[in-house]
Amino acid sequence: MDDISLHILDIAQNSLQAGARNLEISIEEDEERDELFITVKDDGRGMTEEEIAMVLDPFYTTKDKKTGLGIPLLAQSAREADGDVSVESMPGKGTVIRARFRLSHIDRKPLGDMASTIRVIIACAPTVDLLFRYTCGGREYRLDTAILRDALGEVPLDYPEVLRMIMDEVSEGLKELRKDCSEG
Ligand SMILES: Nc1ncnc2c1ncn2[C@@H]1O[C@H](COP(=O)(O)OP(=O)(O)OP(=O)(O)O)[C@@H](O)[C@H]1O
Ligand SMILES: [Mg+2]
Repeated sequence: MDDISLHILDIAQNSLQAGARNLEISIEEDEERDELFITVKDDGRGMTEEEIAMVLDPFYTTKDKKTGLGIPLLAQSAREADGDVSVESMPGKGTVIRARFRLSHIDRKPLGDMASTIRVIIACAPTVDLLFRYTCGGREYRLDTAILRDALGEVPLDYPEVLRMIMDEVSEGLKELRKDCSEG
């Protein structure tokens, strides 16, 4: 996995596969503490304690032919940057995956193309309510597809023109926000 946005895509796909109706992705840069936090929260089917224990193990999967490397690879990337991953989940309630990285660590992967990750998630699950937040330097960028969907009326979120517009808007929004942050 080359960058953090691809890890986020992978973790968010798990949430969609778990039947989430609401998905929250947040990225926080804390320059004072030199930490980067990624949180993916869903209201999908959740996991039992046994499943949580297994999920950090490579090759645990409930899919037929898949490898089950999504979470272990994220954990590995976090460890390489002096960080870690935690999994909090409750059957029938949902799951929260948190990853922490040392922001300035030489081996921390770059964030990558978050706008594309957001576009792919919306294209895969246009009816899921996605809240995406990015905070740094006391400022926040926010995209809320529930609000967007209301504003669009009849036009679906996965309409190609809409997807393009969302991607441009995220891309511009993050560029503006990250000007003064270490990622920018
Ligand atoms: N958000 C989630 N909600 C419910 N179950 C989850 C969630 N995330 C992971 N799991 C469970 O943990 C298993 C392992 O997840 P992981 O992403 O590591 O591999 P995978 O999704 O099975 O395969 P891959 O990511 O390689 O396609 C999943 O098959 C699923 O059963
Ligand atoms: Mg997965």
